[in-house]
Amino acid sequence: MKFLSVLGLSFLCAMLPLQAQTSESVHLSVDAARSGATISRNIFGQFAENLGHGLYEGIWVGPDSSIPNTRGIRNDVVAALRELKVPNVRWPGGCFADQYHWRNGVGPREKRPATVNSAWGDVIDTNAFGTDEFMDFIQQIGSTPYVSINLGSGTVEEAAQWVEYMTAGAPTALAKERAANGHPDPYKVGFLGLGNESWDCGGAMTPDYYVSLMKVYSRFVVNMNPAQRSKDQMLKIAVGPGTPNTAWTEAVMQAWKRHTWSWDINGVSVHWYTTPGGWPVSMPSSNFSVDDYAKTLKTTLFMDEFLREQEAVMNKYDPDKKVALVVDEWGGWYKPLTGSNPAFLVQQNSIRDAIMASLNLNIFARHADRVRMANIAQMINVLQAMILTDKEKMVLTPTYYVFKMYVPFQDSTFVPVTFDAGTYTQGSVTLPRIDSIAAKTTDGKLMLEITNLDAANPATVSVDVAGMAAKSARAQTLTGAAVDSVNTFASPDSVVPEPVGVKMEAGKLSLTVAPRSVTVIAIEP
Ligand code: AHR
Repeated sequence: MKFLSVLGLSFLCAMLPLQAQTSESVHLSVDAARSGATISRNIFGQFAENLGHGLYEGIWVGPDSSIPNTRGIRNDVVAALRELKVPNVRWPGGCFADQYHWRNGVGPREKRPATVNSAWGDVIDTNAFGTDEFMDFIQQIGSTPYVSINLGSGTVEEAAQWVEYMTAGAPTALAKERAANGHPDPYKVGFLGLGNESWDCGGAMTPDYYVSLMKVYSRFVVNMNPAQRSKDQMLKIAVGPGTPNTAWTEAVMQAWKRHTWSWDINGVSVHWYTTPGGWPVSMPSSNFSVDDYAKTLKTTLFMDEFLREQEAVMNKYDPDKKVALVVDEWGGWYKPLTGSNPAFLVQQNSIRDAIMASLNLNIFARHADRVRMANIAQMINVLQAMILTDKEKMVLTPTYYVFKMYVPFQDSTFVPVTFDAGTYTQGSVTLPRIDSIAAKTTDGKLMLEITNLDAANPATVSVDVAGMAAKSARAQTLTGAAVDSVNTFASPDSVVPEPVGVKMEAGKLSLTVAPRSVTVIAIEP
């Protein structure tokens, strides 16, 4: 008996940090009559690089696979992604983009050359998933392509021909080749990335060298789709920095300010990963402590300052905010899972990642006047993924569910929320206890998101809603039993959204949000 009670005590001690201690009260005020910028649906974009099992196995299994597929593309993955209304997908890289030759990936698959993916593990690339397969995937999930062209090992002519192959409507030789490959109609390319991390894996260029090169690509790589000539034009995104340094952004924006008719850009991309403890990455993606949880959230909140610094430079040259800030790589980057190929960047995804995703999406929403696009890294089986697969099995991650819960925020109008976030201290780290955003949807609903960062304590939230007669409210919460709760193939539903009760009295809402949780409330007039 004594032995048992000692064991019981130590068990209790281990659990204490995660047990509900006290329910803190938080008051939020939302005035639905006040509104800010549009929260572009494109900030919910994703990134699918030719890396590890991101494309091969994650998306592409081939038409002869026993895994149910449509023209080689997994049906389970497509069905899951359709639910997210993924606005755009960035492909083929990343670092891979600056070594990719599009010609290797078109035409009959049995004739495509085997090449080496020297960006990611020197593995053989069959090139089975090329341009037409990517476009098929995009069409199946109902998204828009964001194609990154090769400014590293490629040439201007090669990139121009690739975009002609994809977009030419007139019967040019390349349009005919596309038709012969089964696609008579030109594709719509929504976004064109002019290189990737050109300061590092993209060719270790200086800002000035990059700017000179980028102008030439901007000038000669032309979208020929007749449906994109006057409206739905392809937006060109220049490379920006991946560190808080602003010299690169200065060079790009200064050049843009002086640009002539012959070239233009519509966005500058920045990359900012959450790497608690810095490089090389050392934080585990599962079985981590509450201190690690808090440290990770602290690191991720730096995104706000990072964007402010970049925006300050952009505002100098572009006060009218014509050029978008595009965060086309973001997310948690942790130690690769034991036993996995370290070049494949395989990691688990926990409720910590879900909270991180909501914090970042909320930051993007607060910067919506300038941040008009973002791409989480990456879509499947790589870094902070939406989906993990193992042969025929598939599991949806906590991050997937956050993206699903945020779907109503796509193209909504930002509405300011006022609140005192309070503080949550864990070890040496102090964080805001609560984060929140609100927005009005095009069909008149008010959406309210509340993140409770506190690992142990729930919060009792009261919300004053002005500017609309709120009649009903429905809420969903995503939480986990512990800060490192994950979904696995064996237990896929450990972290899934659940409905949560909301009391409504005289236009005032009240609810309790669980510790370590993301809650989205739809308020109807
Ligand atoms: O997302 C993985 C890699 O991170 C990308 O290829 C590169 O752009 C970045 O450094």
